[in-house]
Amino acid sequence: MAKLQAAATAKIEEICARYKDEKTPLMMILSDIQNEYGYIPLEVQEVVSKQTGIPVAEIYGVVTFYSFFSLTPKGKYVIGCCLGTACYVKGAGQVIDKFSEILHIQPGQTTEDGLFTLDALRCIGACGIAPAVSINGKVFPKVATAQVADIIEQYRNAEKEGQEV
Ligand code: FES
Repeated sequence: MAKLQAAATAKIEEICARYKDEKTPLMMILSDIQNEYGYIPLEVQEVVSKQTGIPVAEIYGVVTFYSFFSLTPKGKYVIGCCLGTACYVKGAGQVIDKFSEILHIQPGQTTEDGLFTLDALRCIGACGIAPAVSINGKVFPKVATAQVADIIEQYRNAEKEGQEV
């Protein structure tokens, strides 16, 4: 979306119009855009600002405050390593480091091939199976550093064979 195409602009305007009667439409608009495109870059925020009259600075503040929203495109597979207390005491720090080492990216970054994004999460409500890792919503329980390469391989192989994991 580097240069916002007319079709994309029209779609964003349509999303804004959906919530024109809401008193506080911003979160709903941004959620729909995030779901539709996977990220909300500045030029999109400018269209939302023009449509709603909400200043870009305010929109930018919301986009950067909530981890659900992203300014940059995320990978096809978003790996979320929980770093909440229960997971952390069971070795989640080493687990995320292992993902980082194998994928050659830091938390918050995406691999060059666009396949994986690595995220550090707060408690995802699965403390009983700590350390927990979630990939596109699928939760892996009690993840050990020795499993990390296999997990990544599983996704790479599925991608090569065009299968769903
Ligand atoms: S601390 Fe990781 S799931 Fe709760």
